[in-house]
Parts: sequence; structure tokens; C-alpha cells
Amino acid sequence: MRLLNFGSLNIDKVYRVPHFVRPGETISSESFQCFPGGKGLNQSVAAARAGCQVYHAGTVGQDGEFLLEVLRESGVDIRYVRKGSGVTGHALIQVADSGENSIILFGGSNYENDSDYVDQVLEQFGEGDLLMLQNEMNDLDQVLKKGALKGMKIMLNPSPMDEKLASMDLSCVSWLMLNETEGKAMTGEEVPEQILNVLTERYPGMEVILTLGEEGCVYGFQKLRIKQKAYAVKAVDTTAAGDTFTGYFAAAAAEGKPVDEALSLAARASAIAVTREGASVSIPWRREIM
Ligand code: RIB
Repeated sequence: MRLLNFGSLNIDKVYRVPHFVRPGETISSESFQCFPGGKGLNQSVAAARAGCQVYHAGTVGQDGEFLLEVLRESGVDIRYVRKGSGVTGHALIQVADSGENSIILFGGSNYENDSDYVDQVLEQFGEGDLLMLQNEMNDLDQVLKKGALKGMKIMLNPSPMDEKLASMDLSCVSWLMLNETEGKAMTGEEVPEQILNVLTERYPGMEVILTLGEEGCVYGFQKLRIKQKAYAVKAVDTTAAGDTFTGYFAAAAAEGKPVDEALSLAARASAIAVTREGASVSIPWRREIM
């Protein structure tokens, strides 16, 4: 199964702060670093470092050449990435001493995709291939529909959640990878089991993977539930923990691994990622996990 990730590429501007800045407050940061990131790029890097054949598509700005480097070095095929005319999407990230983060996004070139470009890329893929998507680019609904029409299996990470996505028909999605906040927005429920019940009843053909932070995650398909614990580690920076989990799970799914093995691999990868600073640069290679 080939994996095409049509996704965002961001420049992450990361500020280490004692606490997240409050309304009306000005604080000094303890350090500043610039990393390659974006949910799309991070998930491609994770899936490729897990050993999957990954193709990335998306639009990068003139200032985003170093983002392509990390994709290349990780073994991602970037022939379908194109350069836009505007600035690359970027993220302003505060990382607090607790390791938690808070993020402001600017979409930039991630919003320059057009239907001709989408068609040209999707033309190269078809039945049996896996299409991975997040919500950091324009026309997500179009790409989703076109991928489904081509018979691709779709994995969606509905992040960042917005009203349009919360009310979208996702019946063509095979795997939905989401966290509790996104689950609440899609179902109105707060309790993880209820979120899973609503989604698995609404979409009987969908496998739902609900991540629960330090509590691990729960997998749901129809009435089946599988729990996976999170590994206890000292978190330095949780940025891209979810992307690492998603990318590793996608790689395992593409390999045809049983769900419990895929969840365990993804949990171990994301545990390592949170012990390191940065987004894509924190993602481990499979040999480190083994
Ligand atoms: O999930 C982490 C990512 O979210 C960061 O790399 C940032 O770019 C934002 O997209």
C-alpha cells in the first residue's frame, strides 16, 4: 500500500516560556528555535521513519526549502510538492516548562492548492493506496471526495478542528485519528467511551482512534474496543506527539499489521518524541523503537 499525504508544511517558530502568555501580559522567552513542522510534514516524516513508502504533496513557499530537506532525509518522496508564490505556512509555538504547547497558525502557502494541482497528483494514485489528510490546507473536502472517488483508503486527522469539519460527512474515511477536544466537537460528548460510541454508530465502516494524552488511546470499530496505554516518560516538548502517533499508526496499517501491534508501535514512537524538543526533528526512526 503506497501512502500519499496531501498535507501542510510549516515553519515552526518555537519559544520556550515559563508559562503561556496571559491576556494583556508581555513575557520574555527563555529560548527561540526554528524547526520544520506542520501536521502534514510531521506525519509524513513519522510514517517514512517507520519504514513506509511515503509521497508528500502540498505547497511550500519560496522560504521553505529547509522543510523539503527533512522530508528528503527521512526518505519521503517529494516529487509532488510544489513551490507557491507566497510565504510558507508557519506556526508560532509556546512551549511551557511543563512540556505542553500552545500554537497559533498562519496558513500561508498551505492555502494555495488548486483543483488542477490536486487532480494532477491524485491521477498518480488509485485503489489500494492510502490517502492521509489533516485540516491545515484549503479545499480539504474536495481532496477527500476526489481521493474516495479514486478508491483510495482515507486516514483523516481532523486537526485543527473547525465548524466546517465538525459537520462534514466523513463516511468515506476508513481511519479517523482524533483527540478528545476534536471528539467533543464532532459528537458533543465529553466522555471518551461516549465519543467512540457516537462515532462508531454514525460511521459503521470507520476505525476510530481516540488519543487521550497521558492516558494513552482507545481504538473503536463497531462494538470492538482496544485500549493502549501511554508510556511514562519525562515530557520535554509534546509538539508533534500526536503526529508521530498518527504517522506510525499509518505506516503499520499500510503494512497490514494487526491493530494492537499498530497501536503499540505508535505509542512507543510518540513516547520517544515527547522526550525531545521540536516537531519533526523529535520523531524517532523505527530502529530506535525496536
Ligand atoms: O502538531 C504539531 C504541528 O502543529 C506543528 O509542527 C505546527 O506546525 C502545527 O501545525
